[in-house]
Amino acid sequence: MDSIGEIEARALQELSAASSKEEIKELGVIYLGRKGKLTQFLRNISSLPPEEKPEAGKKANILKKRLEKEFKAAVERMEAEEIQYADHIDVSLPGRPVPIGTLHPLTQILREICSIFQKLGFDIAEGPEVESDYYNFEALNIPKNHPARDMQDTFYISENIVLRTHTSPIQIRIMEKRTPPVRIVAPGKVYRCDSDITHTPMFHQVEGLLVDKKITFGDLKGILTAFVQQMFDEQISLRFRPSFFPFTEPSAEVDILCVMCRGKGCRICSQTGWLEVLGSGMVHPAVFENVGYDTSKYTGFAFGMGVERITMLKFGIDDIRKFFENDYRFLRQF
Ligand code: DAH
Repeated sequence: MDSIGEIEARALQELSAASSKEEIKELGVIYLGRKGKLTQFLRNISSLPPEEKPEAGKKANILKKRLEKEFKAAVERMEAEEIQYADHIDVSLPGRPVPIGTLHPLTQILREICSIFQKLGFDIAEGPEVESDYYNFEALNIPKNHPARDMQDTFYISENIVLRTHTSPIQIRIMEKRTPPVRIVAPGKVYRCDSDITHTPMFHQVEGLLVDKKITFGDLKGILTAFVQQMFDEQISLRFRPSFFPFTEPSAEVDILCVMCRGKGCRICSQTGWLEVLGSGMVHPAVFENVGYDTSKYTGFAFGMGVERITMLKFGIDDIRKFFENDYRFLRQF
C-alpha cells in the first residue's frame, strides 16, 4: 500500500495538472471517494501494527481535510475564471457607438429646394439620365449646329444617345404626357465633359416648369423671388439679366445679391456684388409646338439651377470637387 506521503505528493501534483472542473471532480473520487486511495488507507489503518495506528490515523485525517479544501478551492477558481471569460453580456458596460451617417450636403440642399417648390404647388418629376438626342436637344429647340451639342461638352453614348447635359428634357417628357396646367420641379444628375475647380463631369440640377393660361414673366419673377428668399433670406434681392437659351424667349439669367458680402464686392462674387444662380425664361413657342400644346391658349415659364452652386453658396464651400471625394472629414460637417 502507498504511504500517506506518497498519496499526498501524487494528489497535489495531479491537482495542479488538472485543467477542468471535471478533472478535479474525478480526482476527488480517486482520492476521497468511497473506494478512493485515501479512504482505503483510512480503512486499512486497523490492520497496521498498534504502535503505528495513532500516527497514521492522525496524518491521514489531516491529509483528508487538506485535500477536501484544496479540491474545493481549485473548483472555485475554475468557476471564477469561467465567469470571467464566458461569452455573456455585461449590461453595465458602456455600449459600442454605432457611427451614424448624415445626408450628403447636396442631398440636403436638393431636398430643401424641392420642398420650397412643393409648398408653392409644384410636383416632383424625374427622367432618365441616359437620354436621346431628341429630348436633350431637338425638342428643346437646340439646333443641330449648336455648340452645346459639341463632343467637347456632351458625353455621347452613340450617335443619337447622350448622357443628359441638363434636366430640361424632363420638361418635354412631362408635357408630352400631361395637359396644362403643369407645375413641376425636376431634380437630377446631369453630365458634361468638363472638370476644374467649379466644374465636375457629373453635377445636379433642378429644373422648373409652369404652364397654364395667362402665365407671364411677372409670375416667373414672383416664384423665383419667393424661392430665393426662402432658400437664403428675405434680404436677398434678385436681378434678371437678359440672356439667351434656345428653349425660352425671352430668356433671363437670375443673379442674387452676394450672400457673402451683401453687395459690397468680394472674392466669391468677383467684386460684382452679385451671384449668378439660375437660367430662366418664358417657354419658347417652338417647344410648345413640339409637344402639341396650343400656343394661342397657353404660356409658361421654365428655369434651371445648379444644385452644387447653391450648396456652395449656402455652406461657403469653395471647391466643387470636395462634394465627390467622399472625405468623411468634409462630409461630417454638414
Ligand atoms: N438647361 C439650362 C442649362 O443647363 C438651364 C436652363 C436655362 C433651364 C433656362 C431652363 C431655362 O429651364 O428656362 O444651362
